[in-house]
Amino acid sequence: MIPPSHIRTPFQARFGAAPTVIVRAPGRVNLIGEHTDYNDGFVLPIAIDRAITIALRPRPDRRLIVHALDYDQTAEFDLDRLEKGEPGWAEYVKGVAWALQREGFGLSGWEGVLLGDIPRGAGLSSSAAVELASARAFAAVSSLPWDPARMARLAQKAENEWVGVRCGIMDQMASAVARAGHALFLDCRSLAYEHIPLPPETAIVVLDTATRRGLVDSAYNERRRQCETAARTLGVPALRDVDEATLTRRAAALDEVTLRRARHVVSENARVLQAIAAMRRGDAAALGSLLNLSHASLQADFEVSSPALDQIVALARRDPACFGARMTGAGFGGCAVALVEAARAGRFARQVIRAYRRQTGLEAQAYLCAASDGASLVAA
Ligand code: GLA
Repeated sequence: MIPPSHIRTPFQARFGAAPTVIVRAPGRVNLIGEHTDYNDGFVLPIAIDRAITIALRPRPDRRLIVHALDYDQTAEFDLDRLEKGEPGWAEYVKGVAWALQREGFGLSGWEGVLLGDIPRGAGLSSSAAVELASARAFAAVSSLPWDPARMARLAQKAENEWVGVRCGIMDQMASAVARAGHALFLDCRSLAYEHIPLPPETAIVVLDTATRRGLVDSAYNERRRQCETAARTLGVPALRDVDEATLTRRAAALDEVTLRRARHVVSENARVLQAIAAMRRGDAAALGSLLNLSHASLQADFEVSSPALDQIVALARRDPACFGARMTGAGFGGCAVALVEAARAGRFARQVIRAYRRQTGLEAQAYLCAASDGASLVAA
């Protein structure tokens, strides 16, 4: 967690005065419900205790000046003349300005510094965090009502239509509305949500494989298309509307690959509901088994895992402190998530990193994540 003092000082150095507002928005890790959001299904992410923080003050004009400390880059733009630029963090800020203005909000300019501690490219949604932190900043300086779910939708629109990435709504909703100590049970069709307490005495450990894959976007879009084809063939608006019995009965209507894609989504939605029931009983063992089943389905049916993810998941499960583990996020590289006994989480993380290094020669990172609150005003 970045203490506000770490961002006040660089703001002061750059702009010669104290910031009037500090906002933050967290990254997320998904416990279960993978590749279900764009099928109108269920997801169960937590917001992590790593975030994007922005310190800022309003400007009297309609300009934005934002300096990203991590990149040592400054972006400047005019709210009356938004133009697409080089891909990068600034496009998320600009995209949010574009989406808010299109929604009819009158925005004021501001200047600020932005700082983050979310590992980038790891699948922990640093981009959704930049979007929600920017939305929170605009809301603060422009006196907009803060409706987190509406802001999440607008941030998703920014990512889909301004940045050009076809993501679902999970990351933005997690960054906007999550609650500390809880997972977010979200219905991605209605956006109804509920905060579900994590099982007692458990910890969530994110294991970063230190592998990244460049083709994530094209593979992601291909999976989306396959899911849309399955839904169309089965005559429903989205795979959310299919249950396991119906899919079995109608299996012959789909080709082999499309059937496996659909089977993942349909079974994953059912697993999210089972996971909620397990959490309500405080049953960490049952929740862990569902994580394991989710991984198997993502690996065999949805085919978005990778050898590195499979390896780190297997190493995690070998540890007696682990209730279950699976890949998390879009896949093909990035992170796995493990549910472990809280008292043994530190030792678990060290053990997995050591064994993974021995097997692969790669240096994994482990993050013990506290479930945190969604986007907020830290200081005004
Ligand atoms: C990425 C997308 C999300 C979701 C996941 C897979 O993180 O941004 O919307 O589709 O992949 O569950």
